Amino acid sequence: MRDSADWSRLRIRNRDWLVPWEPTADGNWAARHHRSNWPALYSVLKAEAKRGALLPFVIEVDGEYTGQLTIGNLQRGAVRSAWIGYWVDQDWTGKGVATAAVALGVDHAFGPVGLHRLEATVQPSNAASRSVLTHVGFRHEGVLKRYMDVNGRWRDHDLFALTAEEVISSAVETLVRSGRAQFR
Ligand code: ACO
Repeated sequence: MRDSADWSRLRIRNRDWLVPWEPTADGNWAARHHRSNWPALYSVLKAEAKRGALLPFVIEVDGEYTGQLTIGNLQRGAVRSAWIGYWVDQDWTGKGVATAAVALGVDHAFGPVGLHRLEATVQPSNAASRSVLTHVGFRHEGVLKRYMDVNGRWRDHDLFALTAEEVISSAVETLVRSGRAQFR
């Protein structure tokens, strides 16, 4: 609950940075991201997490709120799959933050959570996000035509995926071995 001010400040400051990639939603951006809306959003995230359907994370760098990572639509049984999504404050981009966060999310999902497959959907023009997924080992599987209503229009998305057996040892260790991250 203490994240309300940081969440609101970052989301409002990053409006133009995020709108091209996020699902279309009703209402004015600033009003939707006023800090008074955080408790309700937090409650929904917490309830979904308790139900086992969602894993919501804040991305922190040295204790500073820099973005969010969400693993959603967790399916159990014979599928054991979910989607992964993320955003990072524009001031922090290009420093490997999302790549590290996605690798940590992958290891958590395939480790303690026991999932077998993660999917990510990305617009073809989102080069930064495609790089993040590729660095962590996600493969391009196909094109989803007019998949999601983003910024007021149905947009094609590329489907990327990764299954547990494709991760050698751990996603974080793979990043470290490739020189893209360091243990501290
Ligand atoms: N064209 C090509 N490559 C780019 C561009 C660009 N315009 N911008 C950045 N990159 C590259 C970087 O060089 C880097 O690759 P490198 O390490 O080989 O140099 C990579 O993309 C970015 O890697 P990180 O630094 O780990 O990622 P960052 O912390 O900057 O965050 C993110 C990337 C999350 C996509 C950020 O740009 C963002 O929040 N964008 C807006 C919201 C968004 O697009 N979210 C993802 C939606 S799709 C999904 O959630 C599955």
